[in-house]
Amino acid sequence: MDKLLVRGGKKLSGEVIISGSKNASLPIIISSILFNNDLELGNVPKVKDVYTLINLLKLLGKNSVFEQDNSNLKIFNIKNNKYLAPYSIMKTMRAGVLVLGPLLAKYGKAKVSLPGGCAIGARPINLHLYALKKLGAILSIKDGYVEAKVKNGLIGNKIRFKKISVGATECAIMSATLAKGKTIITNAAIEPEIIDLIEFLNSCGAKISWGKNRKIIIRGVRTLKPVKYNVIPDRIEAGTYAVAALITDGKLLIKKVNIAHLDSTFNVLKDMGAKIKIFTDSFLISRNKKLRPTKIKTKVYPGFATDMQAQIMTLACLTDGTSVIKEDIFENRFLHISELLRMGANIEIKKQKAIVKGVKNFNSAEVMATDLRASVSLVLAGLSTKGITTINRLYHLDRGYEKIEKKLKLCGADIQRING
Ligand code: EPZ
Repeated sequence: MDKLLVRGGKKLSGEVIISGSKNASLPIIISSILFNNDLELGNVPKVKDVYTLINLLKLLGKNSVFEQDNSNLKIFNIKNNKYLAPYSIMKTMRAGVLVLGPLLAKYGKAKVSLPGGCAIGARPINLHLYALKKLGAILSIKDGYVEAKVKNGLIGNKIRFKKISVGATECAIMSATLAKGKTIITNAAIEPEIIDLIEFLNSCGAKISWGKNRKIIIRGVRTLKPVKYNVIPDRIEAGTYAVAALITDGKLLIKKVNIAHLDSTFNVLKDMGAKIKIFTDSFLISRNKKLRPTKIKTKVYPGFATDMQAQIMTLACLTDGTSVIKEDIFENRFLHISELLRMGANIEIKKQKAIVKGVKNFNSAEVMATDLRASVSLVLAGLSTKGITTINRLYHLDRGYEKIEKKLKLCGADIQRING
């Protein structure tokens, strides 16, 4: 297994180009199942989760190819009526379960492995199944698979989510796009990645409107016509590099971002002592003064993103004071804490709250990644301190950060990948 050696203690400076959003790309690529013809997407990040999804789509009759020297992904329709998504792929990437709705909408049947949980939580899909049932699907769970069918196509309906869920909202949107009649989704998630899925589908002829009141209205259409579409920038990658600038007391110009998606991250970073100069699609970030503690809770968008929690906690470890960080989205998203403690952090867990007392510095150490955002928080901790920090189980990091060592080296980091 690959590992990363980070010789920290250097102030980062220079420019970082942000890649396309992993969490926007995955549902948009999956929505290709709704199309009869080929389609092309731009600004798709070359990360492991996208390659895993490409392998899954191959089993579902779609061949996808990245262009060599850019981030365009071409998806070719090879064979229809392939609707089995196996556990062998699902166990490596839960988001694959999102193929269930589109397969049902397109072919009237689907057999998709239950995704199972992951390091950060049980990750149930009850809300996905609720939405599909509301649209007329007949579902049964057998041998770890969801078997779904619908006689004469899905029928539009009212879908009232009792809990806000990104994946379940995406499932409902993609399924209702080809359903007969109108679907009204209430208490929907409205993350930028969901709006990007809606914008993509609408550009291909879907009829989807949405309001700030978490209501999405979908009028089913018979077919979609593909147009070339560029995926939004990754707001979590952008926030991660912003923390890298602050934690090394450096200065970075972070480019190719969508500033409107970064409000909640900027608010927390400014609260902690960041100076941020905003341009059209980039921002310059450095420390205004000493790092200050913070008190935050992770929330659904537009609140503070759970995917930024580990990174902000790592920064909070070096402030002069006590921070309180509450994880309100996932039940087990503090796995990075045990490794940060091994690097000299002072963090106490009280149920869903972490009490972070600032320390002077981290100590370099050999550490282990446990999930995507926990792994990048260990890179951040390593960058901030002299000595060599070795990060094992790099496959977690590669799932969602494109060319991370190349991007960091360009800003002066001393970082090396050892192929294991
Ligand atoms: C998406 O996961 C993202 N993944 C996650 O990013 C992100 O952390 C999460 O949304 C929240 O923003 C992708 O987009 C591929 P949810 P998702 O459904 O859709 C519960 C990363 O690091 N729930 O909004 O799985 C669930 O257990 C990843 O890039 C149900 O109870 O998140 C959780 O507590 C990690 N029943 C809460 O809702 C359901 O049917 C939010 O989950 C579905 C979810």
